[in-house]
Amino acid sequence: MGQWAGVILAAGTGTRMKSSVPKALHPVCGKEMIRYPVELLRQLGIDQITVIVSPDNSRDVGALLGNEVEYAVQAEPLGTGDALLQAREYLAGKADNLLVMYGDTPLVRYDTVKQMTAAHVNPGVVMSILVTSVPAVNDLGQVLRDQSGRITSIVEAAEREHDPHSPGEINGGVYCFSDSWVWDNLESIAPGSNGERYLTSLAAAAAGQDVIGVESQDIGELRGVNNRVQLAQVESELRSRIRHEWMLSGVTMADPDSVFIDADVSIGQDAVLLPNTMLLGKTTIGTACEVGPGSVIRDSFVGAQCRVTASMLEEATLEDGVHVGPFSHLRPGAYLGAGVHVGNFAEIKESRLGSGAVMGHFGYLGDASVGANANLGAGMVTCNYDGQNKNRTVIEADAFVGCDTMLVAPVKVGVGAATGAGAVVTSDVPPGRLAIGVPAKIRRFETDAD
Ligand code: UD1
Ligand code: MG
Repeated sequence: MGQWAGVILAAGTGTRMKSSVPKALHPVCGKEMIRYPVELLRQLGIDQITVIVSPDNSRDVGALLGNEVEYAVQAEPLGTGDALLQAREYLAGKADNLLVMYGDTPLVRYDTVKQMTAAHVNPGVVMSILVTSVPAVNDLGQVLRDQSGRITSIVEAAEREHDPHSPGEINGGVYCFSDSWVWDNLESIAPGSNGERYLTSLAAAAAGQDVIGVESQDIGELRGVNNRVQLAQVESELRSRIRHEWMLSGVTMADPDSVFIDADVSIGQDAVLLPNTMLLGKTTIGTACEVGPGSVIRDSFVGAQCRVTASMLEEATLEDGVHVGPFSHLRPGAYLGAGVHVGNFAEIKESRLGSGAVMGHFGYLGDASVGANANLGAGMVTCNYDGQNKNRTVIEADAFVGCDTMLVAPVKVGVGAATGAGAVVTSDVPPGRLAIGVPAKIRRFETDAD
């Protein structure tokens, strides 16, 4: 598509957000807003991306995007035109065309921008603008045309006198510019009534040259975020788009509106998401899983054919065929091998359960390793914290931990060993032995021959 460079403007004050968090870093569907245009430009094959940041947000934005992009600092928020000007020394002459996006319009679609870039490379075009017609122009820039339909200017809300609820054609805030033309004209933009130099003034500066409006088919994708009400609207729009795409790729949702799926989640075919379920962060759900009702899963990997009922998973890993819940909590580092069954009111943290292990009832497993097919009884607790250090518990394969056993770590229950109900185990239980009492004494099983 010819040579392109990208610029993302994110140096505004974001005053209307009333937030100590930079606007570009507010998440939409679990992903910071600024990452949407960055990923879109990358998807279009544009490698040279400059993000305009402010002295206030440069550290946070830089920490998020690292060196996948370049940065230019706009010393003062003197408007979108002034913001783009900051990229001149990095970009002028580097590419034939420039694609400019804002850090606060995360819904713009790949196909739309692709179509814009194709229209822009027609001979004579110096500026292309993403536009659409809306029932109320509200706080957006309004596109004005002459009788022949040529764009003559964009009028900003601050400069308008008429009713913001009147219908009109609006500027979606995505632009293509011819490289030499934009740098030649940016500096001559006159400030608006509030002292800002509007990038949108370039539409009038191009009189006699070709400025084209590329029409979006979907008003929703042009929504920007200037305040928290718009943040909620954008979030809701993207959530329904995400659900729609997953349903079309083979995921069942009985009540889609009650299911929240973040942008970076991946879901296998024939998964069933029951009402009031949230899949957050970088979560992967395998094929044919049943999740919910009422499950919250964040940054976790769930294998195929698992069932997670009314439970919470955070940074947990489930191999295939695992069942969890209702009402259990898997915290960071919980790793459940194939076919593990965790029932109700269990809490598991930083622990690995071998395949086929069972923890059917309430209890706490922390900093532990559990062998295959071990059975952990109701009320079992790993006493992993002595007030200063976290200590590990090892429960080997085929062990049977009796109800209400307290395993005082560091401690090990050997292969095939068992503990009696209510045992307080303070020393290792050798393989094949039984531990009973408080503190537990080590015995042979009654069935063992002396
Ligand atoms: C802008 C457009 C408007 C358009 C709307 C689409 C201008 C003047 N107006 O209005 O025509 O309909 O977006 O959503 O461009 N920024 C800077 N430096 C600044 C000011 C802003 O980098 O000095 C950045 C902001 O961080 C933001 C973007 O530019 O990411 C747009 O600024 P914003 O204040 O949100 O403009 P809008 O009022 O939404
Ligand atoms: Mg905006």
